[in-house]
Amino acid sequence: MIQTDDMDFIPRVVTPENTGYDSDIEITLRPQTLHEYIGQDKVKENLAIYIQATKLRGEPLDHVLLYGPPGLGKTTLSAIIAHELGVNMRITTGPAIEKPGDLVSLLTSLSDNDVLFIDEIHRLSRAVEEILYPALEDRVIDIIIGKGPSARSIRMDLKPFTLIGATTRAGQLSAPLRDRFGVIQRLELYTKEQLTDIVRRSAMILDIPCTADGAGEIAGRSRGTPRIANRLLKRVRDFADVMGNGKIDKDIASIALNRLEVDELGLDSLDRRMLEMIIKGYGGGPVGLETLASAIGEEAVTIEDVCEPYLMQLGFLGRTPRGRCATKLAYEHLGFTYQP
Ligand code: ADE
Repeated sequence: MIQTDDMDFIPRVVTPENTGYDSDIEITLRPQTLHEYIGQDKVKENLAIYIQATKLRGEPLDHVLLYGPPGLGKTTLSAIIAHELGVNMRITTGPAIEKPGDLVSLLTSLSDNDVLFIDEIHRLSRAVEEILYPALEDRVIDIIIGKGPSARSIRMDLKPFTLIGATTRAGQLSAPLRDRFGVIQRLELYTKEQLTDIVRRSAMILDIPCTADGAGEIAGRSRGTPRIANRLLKRVRDFADVMGNGKIDKDIASIALNRLEVDELGLDSLDRRMLEMIIKGYGGGPVGLETLASAIGEEAVTIEDVCEPYLMQLGFLGRTPRGRCATKLAYEHLGFTYQP
């Protein structure tokens, strides 16, 4: 859920973060097996081998860290790993584990070889991380009983388990925590072809008639992100039902997405504001992230996690040690003359 103090806040239709509005549909559309999961081929191939090997040996899978921009399917992939291993998965997030005791009760409630999934693992507190280290390394936890001079520490064995950590900010993970993951995989933004397949699959599950071109139009404006593609599919369906005959084709998808102010490449007003500020306010850059963020009244983390990965994939943005620069392609897309 996006946190905000502004009661009138409306999430961007192209925000890749889970806004809470689409959780139900995400669960319906979630693939259950690696075979059904579209894209991330290298990650899937590696995971398939690790899963098969651990099943052969009857051991738990090594701890896994999944990182990359939001909305790419880190939770989905973790559920698939648990499903393929034939074990249960407990889901939580870094900020929800407030006290060491919260983590202790989670860890002691797991059955043999279960998966514990911690989203936003970079937001664990120091005190909770300290409990996690021996749990990950030696499958034990040290519990302090009592207070003051009579306090004692009791060591407790845990059942074998796999931790899957997910984060958008691998760089913020402490080195000792990062070092305890045997498998570290980065998820990449999806190609338009992969997103087209995802939209077609979702349309089929939701019983929405959709042509290949219609799916392609939605995919091309989804910023490489399945969560956005599935959200746009639902919105376009509304337009198709009310303004058309219920079938999504290229024309109705294009009309709907223009009305939602998502352009042909998936940029929305925030992306455009940011690029225009670099071009008009700072002569194309370089401009520092914090300066840029305050100039457009947006949080630096939103720019960094949400806008930049896609703008960089499009080749619209360069990141240099001295700051962000708009490229020739960005100037052209926004209708400015490029003057280096
Ligand atoms: N829905 C969301 N992400 C998906 C993926 N990677 N494959 C199939 N369906 C999805």
